Amino acid sequence: LTEFMAKTLQAVRGMNDILPAETSAWQYLEDTLRDVVHAYGYSEIRLPLLEKTELFKRSIGEVTDIVEKEMYTFDDRNGDSLTLRPEGTASCVRACLQHGLLHNQVQRLWYMGPMFRHERPQKGRYRQFHQVGVESFGMPGPDIDAEMIFMTARMWERLGLAGASLQINSLGTQAARANYRNALVDYLQAHADALDEDSTRRLSSNPLRILDSKNPAMQELIAAAPRLPDYLDEESAEHFAGFCALLDAAGINYEINPRLVRGLDYYSKTVFEWVTDQLGAQGTICAGGRYDGLVEYLGGTATPAFGFALGLERLLALLMSADAKLPANEPHIYMVVSGAAATERGLVLADELRDAVPGLRLQVNCSGGSFKSQFKRADRSGADFALVIGDEEVVQKTAVLKPLRNKADQETVTHSVLAERVGNLLSGKLDG
Ligand code: HAM
Repeated sequence: LTEFMAKTLQAVRGMNDILPAETSAWQYLEDTLRDVVHAYGYSEIRLPLLEKTELFKRSIGEVTDIVEKEMYTFDDRNGDSLTLRPEGTASCVRACLQHGLLHNQVQRLWYMGPMFRHERPQKGRYRQFHQVGVESFGMPGPDIDAEMIFMTARMWERLGLAGASLQINSLGTQAARANYRNALVDYLQAHADALDEDSTRRLSSNPLRILDSKNPAMQELIAAAPRLPDYLDEESAEHFAGFCALLDAAGINYEINPRLVRGLDYYSKTVFEWVTDQLGAQGTICAGGRYDGLVEYLGGTATPAFGFALGLERLLALLMSADAKLPANEPHIYMVVSGAAATERGLVLADELRDAVPGLRLQVNCSGGSFKSQFKRADRSGADFALVIGDEEVVQKTAVLKPLRNKADQETVTHSVLAERVGNLLSGKLDG
């Protein structure tokens, strides 16, 4: 049994429990992000955690890190190859096509939930992590690109997060990127002896990703490489200029990073990342861009699309280090009950209070205990008040309200006015 406990009573590496002490911060983050996406008219879509492996291979790209080495893929009992979703865009497009959501209409959609990638776990990088993803379909103009950036900026503002900086780039159309790719490969081949192992491997499969290399020994070579912006087609250049102009008009600061290429193959034209230097190596809190080719590539009618995803673990780490004021979820009141009659009356009285005082969080002491131990629990619960009922109070139809967080006197209140008194004492502390 000890061996079982040591090995099996451990969550899978890189997959975290989110404990009760942390969930109110998660809820605050999720609620705030939900408010913001709804403020821009987006609707939620809920997608399965599993998809056919082929969907991710085709969407994300066969020669990306995700597909080559990070997917949780297995055969189910029918022998179908399934994969735990490493991201949400592919599933979202699949669902839109399957249900005809893209026929002659635009869509603004968002989703939230866990994603799975078999990466090397470290601070800010996990094997199960959570994203909020936002996707739009049917809008080709740079206005929607810019509006999505405004939305992310509003998220940081609502969360009180300062210090994230915006990097943008344009990858151009497929044709422009192919031209650029050729020029880059020519250049890198001419310097083949300076390439590290990873880059040599990528040279034939995914040369643009070499620009992303973090290897210090490669930086000089990369800096002197042909630049993507010099190969942009006219349409993409115009789109990018329009995008930048809209950001300028709204006063949003950004940096054009010609080496920003993203790790998924489906992007075209605009790409962006919000990066912070407060999280160490895993500083990208939000990333996305335009993927005008994906819907058609998966078998639908050509449909322009733009989207992004936020990493919730990273946002939460920022929130915690920013000492953000998170809403409380402790009970307001802990009810101490002594004796069978008090328990019987107390349970009902508690529900009457919940009915009468919207937003009230009230915990009733269940399964007994001495006054002393019940008060200990009351204190530990974080409640502001104990509400005490014993035999005497049942007979008198009263309860004793005792402040737990200051030295104010306790008071005896009759049941008929208890809800009113509680409402007054807690005014300003009740949500909703
Ligand atoms: P991504 O860049 O792969 O894009 O992931 C988006 C964000 O998810 C990252 O910036 C990061 O904050 C978070 N993230 C990714 N991997 C991990 C990990 N292992 N641990 C913790 N956080 C992580 C996408 O997933 C695209 N689907 C975004 C998109 C939507 N593009 C268009 N629409």
